[in-house]
Amino acid sequence: MLTHLGACTARVLAVSAPRALARGTPTASRALPARLLSTTPHRPASSSSPQPPRGAPRLLDQSGNAKALTLQLPDGATTSFSYVWLRDHCREERSYHPATRQRLVDTPKIPADYRPQAVRSDERGVSLTWPDSPFESSYESFFPWAFLAEHAYNPPVVREQDLPSVNSRKVLWTREIARDMPTVSYDEVMSSEQGVYEWLKRIDTYGFSLCSGIPGTPEATEALIRRIAFIRETHYGGFWDFTANLEHGDLAYSEVRLEAHTDTTYFTDPCGLQLFHLLSPSTTHTGGHNLLVDGFRAASVLREAHPAAYDLLSSVPIPSHASGSGSASLPSGVHLRPLRRFPVLNHDDKGELVMVRWNGDDRAVVGGEAFEGARMDEWYEALRTWEGILRSEEAQLWSQMEVGTAVIFDNLRVLHGRSAFTGERRLCGAYVNGDDYRSRLRGLEKQFVGGDPRRRALEGVLKERYGIERKGEGKGSVSEEYL
Ligand SMILES: [Fe+2]
Repeated sequence: MLTHLGACTARVLAVSAPRALARGTPTASRALPARLLSTTPHRPASSSSPQPPRGAPRLLDQSGNAKALTLQLPDGATTSFSYVWLRDHCREERSYHPATRQRLVDTPKIPADYRPQAVRSDERGVSLTWPDSPFESSYESFFPWAFLAEHAYNPPVVREQDLPSVNSRKVLWTREIARDMPTVSYDEVMSSEQGVYEWLKRIDTYGFSLCSGIPGTPEATEALIRRIAFIRETHYGGFWDFTANLEHGDLAYSEVRLEAHTDTTYFTDPCGLQLFHLLSPSTTHTGGHNLLVDGFRAASVLREAHPAAYDLLSSVPIPSHASGSGSASLPSGVHLRPLRRFPVLNHDDKGELVMVRWNGDDRAVVGGEAFEGARMDEWYEALRTWEGILRSEEAQLWSQMEVGTAVIFDNLRVLHGRSAFTGERRLCGAYVNGDDYRSRLRGLEKQFVGGDPRRRALEGVLKERYGIERKGEGKGSVSEEYL
């Protein structure tokens, strides 16, 4: 059985929304508040403004512009595309492989003054006929209106404020989520793509999900993980099946308590998902409870109550390392460190929080120019505040793992830890790359709902504002680009 996501969402928020969320609009209450994690407020596509004029865009007279194509949208706005850009982004088979969706045109060889010998438009889009030239033999490119409107840049037709943030679907939680944990069943995930989609949707929304009804074997667990993507191999191996020992030179393999942390901060690209499944009955050991903390909620609380600390933890890069002693299989030891230092809170180029990167145990020596003067004291104060939020009772979701139920979490959002234990505690699990997980989710969203929230919002804006629609995946309409 699949837990009903909507019901879970509403209930969790009713008891756990941070103070800042309560002040949001009703429609904003299901998502991260834009002003906490974003610098760009979202203006929904559906507004009460009067219906704008519709109809196909039209080409403006090109005689005065040797370098660019200018089109006018039904509302009178204009936007221009350089001919070099148009030639570079031609989606005909000669320029763009239809199966691999890779560019075939040799961009630097496009002449700077390149221009078509003819331009035509109809209700579907624009056709450009390129001339015979030393660069290439004559041929025609076709651009659907939807493609041009989506990718317009001078000026853009759709702006960031028209789209939901990349975090729009995320629901922040406290320990109260224990009342209705996001859960899917092993049978659903193993038997259908819809089941995998429901699983990944929960991970995307809450940052974690349980999966119940798993046969208590490592083989079944590994098969479950591989429903998402291939396993990421590290110096710990690929699929793990382990009890406490220090063979891997890491405290994770000991019996000590581990505070909430994210894993593999010492990689340039930390692992994206992590799955744990307990294989030994809880009667074989004492303690060893599992801890999860929503790092994005902790960040939103920090930003609301301590903005200076939030800025500091978002801007001061800190070093991480893994330097455990060698093993029989790796006698030279482990000397991992990322290509550059990263702050605790990491944002994308639009200002959205996309990664919490925090592991006190794997932190290397902080110092140098970034901490000059009073900076070190300020940083430690920010660290105390951050850890105070992470260690608050309401933030911490503790549970005793059970044979047959695995937990999987987004290592870039949800921190994990455990209490100390004695006895035998056999765990299995694995890492999955973040990019591979998000690629799988994107593919399933495309299959089941026609795209992710930003893709669907963009198409909604184009349709509502201009009456422009994407017409499937036909020639020239490929639109898999970064949003
Ligand atoms: Fe860990």
